[in-house]
Formats: sequence, structure tokens, C-alpha cells
Amino acid sequence: PLALAARIEAAHAAGNPFRVRVWTGASTGPELDGALAKADGIEFRLPYNSDPIARERINKGEMEYLDMHLSQVAPAAWQGFLGPLHTAVVEVTAIREDGALVPSSSIGNNKTWLDRADQIILEVNDWQNPALEGMHDIYYGTALPPGRVPIPLTSPEQRIGTTAFRIDPARVVAVVCTNSPDRNLPFAAPDEAATAIAGHLIEFLKHEVKLGRLPATLLPLQSGVGNVANAVLAGLQNSPFERMAAYTEVLQDGMLDLLESGKLTIASATAFSLSPEAAADLNRRMDEFRSRIILRPQEISNHPEIIRRLGCIAMNGMIEADIYGNVNSTHLMGSRIQNGIGGSGDFARNAYISCFVSPSTAKGGKISAIVPMASHVDHITQDVQVLVTEQGLADLRGLSPKQRAKVIIANCVHPDFREALADYHARALKGAFGQQTPHLLTEALSWHQRYIETGSMR
Ligand code: COA
Repeated sequence: PLALAARIEAAHAAGNPFRVRVWTGASTGPELDGALAKADGIEFRLPYNSDPIARERINKGEMEYLDMHLSQVAPAAWQGFLGPLHTAVVEVTAIREDGALVPSSSIGNNKTWLDRADQIILEVNDWQNPALEGMHDIYYGTALPPGRVPIPLTSPEQRIGTTAFRIDPARVVAVVCTNSPDRNLPFAAPDEAATAIAGHLIEFLKHEVKLGRLPATLLPLQSGVGNVANAVLAGLQNSPFERMAAYTEVLQDGMLDLLESGKLTIASATAFSLSPEAAADLNRRMDEFRSRIILRPQEISNHPEIIRRLGCIAMNGMIEADIYGNVNSTHLMGSRIQNGIGGSGDFARNAYISCFVSPSTAKGGKISAIVPMASHVDHITQDVQVLVTEQGLADLRGLSPKQRAKVIIANCVHPDFREALADYHARALKGAFGQQTPHLLTEALSWHQRYIETGSMR
């Protein structure tokens, strides 16, 4: 991608500009999204981006971006819904003598890209520890309807596929050797709010165990991306739960710590998303971790059928939620994309318990994360069962919209915004067009408009 970015820059300078369409698994390193976006080389991007330069271009309207549920990308490619795929650029750890490819530290959609692309460029990255071989589980049993069959995965530690990609060597047009470390941004150390969020969630899980609604080892954990989700994992380190398992999309630093301490027996995911230090450490000690981590294609790591069967406990970050429990994971003030929905929808809809976590305020207290009406909805109320901020936890299971609003306002809202939100709800209970989900439409998004105009929701 860096070479392509240089070529695009030169083409722009020479007056023959061109741009490419980029499909990935999810987020990438700055060498891909960052470099290509900087060169104004991306015309269209799917399905998930967290690169700041690409984000800026998208929000300026200079780059088209399609935000998709991650589990649906590979099937959509097979169904032909995304159009043709010209070139797959896939990093691998090694090419085996039999021509099979040992994947690297992320699988994402690579199986599908390798199968679907007209031509393949392989990047053999020497930096990746050869001990990665054996960690992967590549399932080749997916098919299009009406030929689809059940996926035979019934526990996170189970293997149902092969350890390497098989490809048609005739389509390989180049093999590039590199030595390049995995790069990712470091996580913020858990602050007071994140620690409190983890505390509330752990109390809730303990209570569920006590009531017999969860086993003492819990059910397989899914943890979303971002600082807050990572901090929740750090909190689990000091929880009473032992012998836990994870069935998740990405493994952040917190998951590795739980594996290391033995709290977690097995972690299944599609990729690592580690700080530079954790990535280097894992790479050194791959042998130790190989038997306790399984990397799968993301259509399997995020598959609704499996998530529902295993009964995952989903814990995802959010931008904001409204008083009825609709969650916005992606957009600031209804129109600026932050990252994308990623796998949060795959997990939230199908989880045994679906939790969303966030500090109760953002931007130094100027923004309330709980608002009258979400300015964009990724997760409808039906997919949101538990909301947690540092203020407290709202267990929304079995509650009607009006009952939800009461619990959310009482438990999750920052004191600076609580009265105003309670007042909005009280007036909506009198003046709304209907009383199922009462809203005052001329006011419902006024908090967001106020922020846009004044820099504060207050
Ligand atoms: N209004 C405006 N900005 C907000 C906000 C709000 N209500 N809530 C958060 N933000 C901003 C923060 O200020 C921060 O911005 P900065 O980087 O400019 O400082 C940024 O969003 C990230 O917030 P942070 O509090 O650090 O949370 P996080 O790192 O835990 O990320 C999400 C939160 C929602 C962005 C992240 O969880 C995400 O991308 N989720 C969608 C994808 C997903 O859930 N994937 C799960 C995969 S299995």
C-alpha cells in the first residue's frame, strides 16, 4: 500500500490522477488507510475505518465510505453484491511447500479475498513469528443459499477448519518479502470513569451468577474495540470469575492479560488489535499463546448463528444512547463518522446479554452521552439490554420504553444533565404525539444542535 500511495502521489503530480476502491476486514495500519488517504488515493472504502486521515476525508465528503456489519462482508462479496475484486493484497506468515498460506496475525476477510480476487499479491512478513502456524482455524464450509448448512461450532475452543489458506497459485502475480511490525495505537490507561464502568458491570455479572442466570465461569465474552472496552477487560482481571472464555472479534491488550493470568482459558477472534508493546511481546511469546488463541475468518468470528448458540456476553463501546436505549456507535452529532459499526451489531443482536458502555460525558463534560434522542441509531432498543456509564448501570431487560427511560435517567446520566433530561421526559409524557415512546420532536435533537452552535450541550 505504501508503494501504491507513492505511485498515486506521482500520478496526481503528473496530472493523471487515479484512486482505488479499498475493501478490508476492518481497521488497518497507517501504512494502508493513512498513507492512501493522505495521497487522496481512496475513492471508496468498506467496511470499517479508524484511521484519522481517512476519517477526515470521509467527513469532508472527499471519500465514499460504506459502513457494514463485519459478518456480512464476506457473504456480500460471494453474493456478488459488492462488484468485482481485482487484486487481493494479503499478508501471510509463510508460504508452505504445498502452496498453502500460513495466515498472519489477522485473518479478517482474507479467505474470501483470496478466493474471489482476479489476482493475488502475497506479502510474506518475516516479522511475524513462524510459531503462528497452528493458531488459525480456516473454515471452508460456508456456502450461498440455498446450499447453506449449519456451522458445526459449539464451543469457543473448537476447531472446525484448517490451519492454512489454500489458493490457486495461478492467480498469484507477485510475492513481496517484508519485515514489518504490526502497528496500532496504544490504549489510554483506564481512568476513573472506565474503572467505575468495569466495577458496575462486574457487580451486575456477579448478581446474574447469584440468580443462576449465568454460570460461575460466565458465558463466552465478546469485548468491543476502544479504550473503554479495553478498560472493562482490565477490570475483569480483579473479578472473582475464573476459567472464562472469549468468543470475540478482536483481541485487545486486556484479553492477552486475562489469558496470561489464567482468568481466560481460551480466546477465539479474527485478529489482534494490540498496542505496539503488547504486539511485540505477543510476537516474542507466540509459542506460549498458540494453544489458547484461535483466529478465524471474520464471517465465523462474528457469525450470528454461532454468537446466538454460544450465548455470548457482548460488551461494546458507544458514542451515545438515548433515554429509550437506542445506541449510536458511529456518528458524532448525527453526521460525522467516528469509526464504524464494526462487529458490534453482529454481537449485540445475537448475544445472551448485550451491554453498551461509555463515560456519561464526552469532550470535557460538554457532551452528554445520554441524550433525548440518539442522533444516529446503530443498535435499536431491542438489541440493547444493559447500559453502563461511570454513574451506574441500567438493566433494561423486560422493560417498556417509558420504564427504560426512568432507569436510564436515574442510573446512567451525569448529574450535570440529569435534571434537564428528566424534565424533557416529563414534558414528553404530557405533550408527545403518542405515549409509547414519547418524544417532543422539535426538541429531541436540540442538544446536538446546541453543541454544534455553541460547543456545548449544556
Ligand atoms: N459525542 C462526541 N464525541 C464523542 C462522544 C460523544 N457522545 N463519545 C465519544 N466521543 C469521542 C471521544 O471524545 C473520543 O474522541 P477523541 O479521539 O477526539 O478524543 C472518541 O470519540 C473515542 O471515545 P473514547 O471515549 O476514547 O471511547 P472508545 O475508544 O472506547 O471508543 C467508540 C468508543 C464508540 C468510538 C468505539 O467503541 C467504536 O468505534 N465502536 C464501534 C465499533 C465497535 O463497537 N466494534 C465492536 C467490534 S466487535
